[in-house]
Amino acid sequence: MLVGKNGSGKSTLFRLISGLIRPDRGRIFCALKPSLMFQNPDHQLLMPTCKSELMLCLPKTKPLNNVIEVIQCALAKVDLEEMLDRPIHTLSGGQKQRLALAGALVSNSNLFLLDEPTALLDPESQKSVLEVVKNLTSSPLNPITAIWVTHRLEELFSCDGAAIIANKNISNWNSGSKVFQELKSLAVR
Ligand SMILES: Nc1ncnc2c1ncn2[C@@H]1O[C@H](COP(=O)(O)OP(=O)(O)OP(=O)(O)O)[C@@H](O)[C@H]1O
Ligand SMILES: [Mg+2]
Repeated sequence: MLVGKNGSGKSTLFRLISGLIRPDRGRIFCALKPSLMFQNPDHQLLMPTCKSELMLCLPKTKPLNNVIEVIQCALAKVDLEEMLDRPIHTLSGGQKQRLALAGALVSNSNLFLLDEPTALLDPESQKSVLEVVKNLTSSPLNPITAIWVTHRLEELFSCDGAAIIANKNISNWNSGSKVFQELKSLAVR
């Protein structure tokens, strides 16, 4: 998890890593295949149904003969089984975010850049998205790396490591609970 004040450059860093913008100076090295996920799923999901949305996310390189199987498998991994033909406008906010994660899965991304993915969600949906990401990043087969930006500090207790972005620098990575304590002590000073 990556935390930092408004305007500290978290989203900019994600845009740089994912190639949406280019650095004025220096170079970005990224050995993984990144996928960016936004705070508001309605800014990301384009198609009318879960199936058509995920078909759009499939890599364009080689045609698959088991498209539906690949899509069903991704839906199962984000707890959206049976949702293949569901219109996207009928999904809850948490379900939409999990569909966006399924899109990243079918695109064969192995670096999820999650920019405040739970900011608009209620506590239950927040938990469902956290759990899915935790499962995806803990899988021994094809493990996925996720960098999660948050202002919801309680989420720090779910991460494997956390850092603070401030003054154009990223701090050393530490445990989420240690970063939580650090931010709390800064707040009371
Ligand atoms: N393309 C750009 N060109 C110049 N400046 C930019 C560009 N994009 C963002 N900025 C500036 O960079 C700074 C960091 O913005 P950024 O959106 O990355 O912050 P953030 O940490 O994601 O904030 P928040 O917590 O509010 O989402 C801001 O001052 C912003 O105005
Ligand atoms: Mg931002």
